[in-house]
Amino acid sequence: MSPLTILLVGSGGREHALAWKIAASPLTRRLVMAPGNPGMAKLGETRPIKATDTPALVALAREIAADLVVIGPEAAVDAGLGDALAEADIPCFGPTAAAGRLESSKAFTKAFADRHGLPTGAYRVCEDAESAKAALDGFSPPYVIKADGLASGKGVVIAETRAEATAAIDDAFGGRFGAAGARVVIEEFLQGEIGSCFALCDGTHSMIFGSAQDHKRAFDGETGPNTGGMGTYSPAPVFTPELVDQVRTRLAEPTFAGVAAEGAPYRGVLFVELMATSEGPKLVEFNVRFGDPECQVLMLRLESDLVPYLLACAIGRLAELPPPRWRPQSAVCVVMAAEGYPDSPVAGSIIRGAEQDFGPDVVVFHAGTARDEDGVLRAAGGRVLNVCALGATLKDAQDKAYAAAARIDCPGGFYRRDIGWRALGR
Ligand code: GLY
Repeated sequence: MSPLTILLVGSGGREHALAWKIAASPLTRRLVMAPGNPGMAKLGETRPIKATDTPALVALAREIAADLVVIGPEAAVDAGLGDALAEADIPCFGPTAAAGRLESSKAFTKAFADRHGLPTGAYRVCEDAESAKAALDGFSPPYVIKADGLASGKGVVIAETRAEATAAIDDAFGGRFGAAGARVVIEEFLQGEIGSCFALCDGTHSMIFGSAQDHKRAFDGETGPNTGGMGTYSPAPVFTPELVDQVRTRLAEPTFAGVAAEGAPYRGVLFVELMATSEGPKLVEFNVRFGDPECQVLMLRLESDLVPYLLACAIGRLAELPPPRWRPQSAVCVVMAAEGYPDSPVAGSIIRGAEQDFGPDVVVFHAGTARDEDGVLRAAGGRVLNVCALGATLKDAQDKAYAAAARIDCPGGFYRRDIGWRALGR
């Protein structure tokens, strides 16, 4: 394969991890990132174009004669970048907006699961607060209240009491999640252990591409509000070979067949968020991109070159590739978040120590950072940095990640101290 010019779209920790792996590939001739972040800027060229500015991204792909465009965030999928690139005949890793409804509408996904026999929990879709409150009668606590649309992982409330559930419904219809909360899905709370499993698809062929476990709550001991994810580790013992096989046959493959049958063949990565229950895996939700911060631990553990897999999804050649090779070590990612995350993160504090040399097993990905006019690194988002480490064991990886985190000064920020607790407590 001749070396490629690659355009990577996005600016978070997930995209920094993808850029890190793409830049290390001998198949990458030129890496351009839009908009990128200060960490990504060290790996290639960045251009200040938003991930949702589809016409400008297509123009950039043409300008640099991109051989491949890699879509990081769901917002770009939803804005139709995959569709526009298909029209321009530019290979793209990332689905069309129609396939992207698997993430952009929770109500669509639940109905899709019904149509295609995917195991998932009971649900009700509600168009107004009154009917949503009445629908709670059909569920028992804890209540799961979800904004229908895209809400950066923050549109889910797990309410322990009816009063909390009612308040969450009022919040959603009161505009807390903007247009994403104009419709609400109430779901059965599934009992079991949560997991994140990834599958690639090239429109026809598919393969499992790693798994991890995320910690969604803001604070230690799974307390506090739901977030986009406060830390991950991989491998996670919940993913036995049997469970991974069930995810493949009961969730991923029927989904790829289903979207193709409905006219929107899937090209890219499908993130299956599942509950491992006594009856096997049940779908919690789909995302149409790599998980953030799941991607970070997957990239640390991925021994194979990532680029052939991204390209194969884009051009329909996945069947020619072997399953990816994973390093036997464990990887941990600790998210350093800004004060006030997830509700009202405080921006602007000066970050010190993030760019020092932490040794060969530690990588710090930038998630929400910016450089000011003096070149000083500052917090510029809810999740600021991802401190990641590889170790011979999970405990070893955890120790290395926390030792590195302790050397970074992120004033007012916070991070969980218990990433990996489920596996370590087994
Ligand atoms: N970590 C969960 C997500 O990416 O949505």
